[in-house]
Amino acid sequence: MSETYSPGLEGVVAGETAVSTVETGLTYRGYTIEDLAANSNYEEVAYLVLHGELPTAAEAKAFRERLGAAATVPAEIIATLRSIPHSASTMDVLRSAASLLAHWEPEVNDNSHAANVRKTERLIAKMPIIVAARQRLKDGKEPVAADPQLPLPANFLWMLRGEKPSARQVKALDVSLILYAEHEFNASAFAARCVVSTLSDLHSAITAGIGALKGPLHGGANERAMEVLQEVSSPAEAEGWIRNALANKRRIMGFGHRVYKDGDPRAVFLKTLTQEVAKETGHDDMEQTAEIIETIVRNEKKLPPNVDWPCARLYHYLGLPIDLYTPLFVVARVVGWSAHAIEQLDNNRLIRPRAIYNGVAERKWKPVGER
Ligand code: ACO
Repeated sequence: MSETYSPGLEGVVAGETAVSTVETGLTYRGYTIEDLAANSNYEEVAYLVLHGELPTAAEAKAFRERLGAAATVPAEIIATLRSIPHSASTMDVLRSAASLLAHWEPEVNDNSHAANVRKTERLIAKMPIIVAARQRLKDGKEPVAADPQLPLPANFLWMLRGEKPSARQVKALDVSLILYAEHEFNASAFAARCVVSTLSDLHSAITAGIGALKGPLHGGANERAMEVLQEVSSPAEAEGWIRNALANKRRIMGFGHRVYKDGDPRAVFLKTLTQEVAKETGHDDMEQTAEIIETIVRNEKKLPPNVDWPCARLYHYLGLPIDLYTPLFVVARVVGWSAHAIEQLDNNRLIRPRAIYNGVAERKWKPVGER
């Protein structure tokens, strides 16, 4: 066996994809994320990632109608959400809910391309309902039904709060979801592809994707990044705090990236929007703190921020509970994972790499009295 080995598969090409690339910046189906985030909206981008092309007006309307029609969750699942202890994180609840949804999915056993596209559309519509309902139940409130007319970001804020959100809030959430929608062969997309490469089903792939995203080295970093910012109570404390953290070899969540060594284009785009929302919502202090930390981490460690650094603050300024940050990443990324799962199944080969054995040499079994 060849001994070529790269820990963490760093730099290894593990497949082909037409969904997105990080070769030069980040593009989804050939469109830069800057172009999409400046001009498009989450639902249009979801359609693009899933179907391969931007929708025509008629396709966008039909897509919205399908999302609206699918924007319900079985009462049994809501009852389950009620019964899960409040101490469970929303990510864990969402992972279970993705699996539960399979039991009510009429096409669960159809692994054809067309059925998986239809299932993905239903998942896109249902995941935000679960996140909002769980939060309301935790807050001692009843879930608010989805409004089938509202686009996904507005609908999510409506279901979470039971009041119509401002256009500015909707726009900010929408842009964050566009930037979170897809990202090539990251750990969670690769996990999803591994699952379906055994000819397993889409819901299993999504459940695995959620499990992989939860970790703080991946999507879980947006919640950890906010915890960092909350440890620093004012800009005056920021320099001392970060120098001390770096001296103690602490890993600063929201910084660094396996692929983007010179900077994450999503973080660059989101920073400007986050600063604007901070101004409008009176969070200039936290922006100053973030800027001091960012400058020092960049200078001392040569590590630029990744998307989770500005996104954590953006969600904080939108008044969202920390426990929802990574679940919102899931809400956006379901489409990316599904596009990868469908692409994998369209041209499948079982993903089954090898390992270099570093255990003990071959030996003989001994009866228990001789061990
Ligand atoms: N804070 C402090 N030091 C860091 C950080 C960080 N955030 N990231 C990397 N380093 C250091 C490491 O300690 C290591 O230093 P050393 O060589 O002195 O031991 C060096 O940089 C290389 O780090 P690795 O972990 O080997 O690099 P890798 O390519 O595996 O890192 C990763 C990528 C996991 C994202 C890392 O940068 C990290 O842990 N960041 C914090 C978590 C985070 O923000 N994750 C979100 C990623 S984006 C996303 O998933 C949406």
